[in-house]
Amino acid sequence: MAIHKKLSLMIPGPTPVPEKVLQALSKHPIGHRSKEFQTLVKSTTENLQWLHQTQNDVLTITGSGTAAMEAGIINTLSKGDKVICGENGKFGERWVKVAKEFGLEVIKIDSEWGTPLNPEKFKTVLKEDTKKEIKAVILTHSETSTGVINDLETISSYIAEHDKALSIVDCVTSLGACNVPVDQWKLDIVASGSQKGYMIPPGLSFISMSEKAWAATEKSNLPKFYLDLKSYRKSLLSNSNPYTPAVNLVFALDEALKMMREEGLENIFLRHNKHKLAMSNSLKALNLQLFANENHLSPSITAVKTGEIDAEEFRKAIKNNFDILLAGGQDHLKGKIFRVGHLGYVHDRDIITAISAISSTLLSLGNISAQQAGKALEVAYQYLEAN
Ligand SMILES: Cc1ncc(COP(=O)(O)O)c(C=O)c1O
Repeated sequence: MAIHKKLSLMIPGPTPVPEKVLQALSKHPIGHRSKEFQTLVKSTTENLQWLHQTQNDVLTITGSGTAAMEAGIINTLSKGDKVICGENGKFGERWVKVAKEFGLEVIKIDSEWGTPLNPEKFKTVLKEDTKKEIKAVILTHSETSTGVINDLETISSYIAEHDKALSIVDCVTSLGACNVPVDQWKLDIVASGSQKGYMIPPGLSFISMSEKAWAATEKSNLPKFYLDLKSYRKSLLSNSNPYTPAVNLVFALDEALKMMREEGLENIFLRHNKHKLAMSNSLKALNLQLFANENHLSPSITAVKTGEIDAEEFRKAIKNNFDILLAGGQDHLKGKIFRVGHLGYVHDRDIITAISAISSTLLSLGNISAQQAGKALEVAYQYLEAN
């Protein structure tokens, strides 16, 4: 009988959790108004600023990534405000829905799923807005549903030129995986979540707020209570939270951020980049086609077309035979693609194992030769070795 419960998470979140972080989670909770907890809030906040490369406030919310994005929107905007939403996948689509739900007037800039948003379209719409009516540009950096990374640096430079509009950015699967220098790129609001590059289970989200974003909170009239960020900012002055935070997740956060500091930002980015290259190139060596545009591959996730093969059946076989969980396609892509997550606590070994499992499955289906399976591993190894 096969040994079960040796699950390997190769989905784009929740991601694998290091032993040290699991141990931190299992500690007995402490009082969230205690001095000990305040010390933790202080150190995690400083380390979050390091990770975001910013002097801005970075707030921790007990809630998932969507909570942080929604908080960014409802704290800085008012009913009827005009916003641009970038949409080239499931998450971009979600921000359009959220914006409409709160009565914002949405100008959609979209692009076909699998292709990046075109920065020039943002430039044009922002330039034409001579009356400065556009209050925010809302977009997703790494579009997890398709494996595309959008050119946030260029788009944010156009937002900065507009001067009045805020940038509200979903960096849920880019922060902690590739460079997101919040101050250098003048990003006003950046949202992320614990179950991704942070290497922690789900439950915490993070939001960085620039001074321009805080100024906008003074005018915002959208309803909010739990997600009223002003109360989080006020509490942070005494290294505290307005409500009871997920104390044990904060223990975990402290440990994970220390690990990240030890590894160093550059090394974290290099590791994700080599895993992206190893995964995408070895899958091509297996005759699989990437779903995303090759010049815009997300560092965190590789989406692959399966052609004649039912992607859901393929994923099922990999789960049953190897206990590796891959992600499926969403919406119209269900059954047509699978997605390999390589985000957070991912080791070269995980990449090799996933590629081997995919190759073996293709081999058993008669879709590739043993030589091709070997070639894919050789390709992966070259990229892993080179970095
Ligand atoms: C790009 C992106 N944005 C937002 C979210 C939503 O985050 P959560 O499920 O933590 O609310 C996800 C989750 O996968 C994501 O990948």
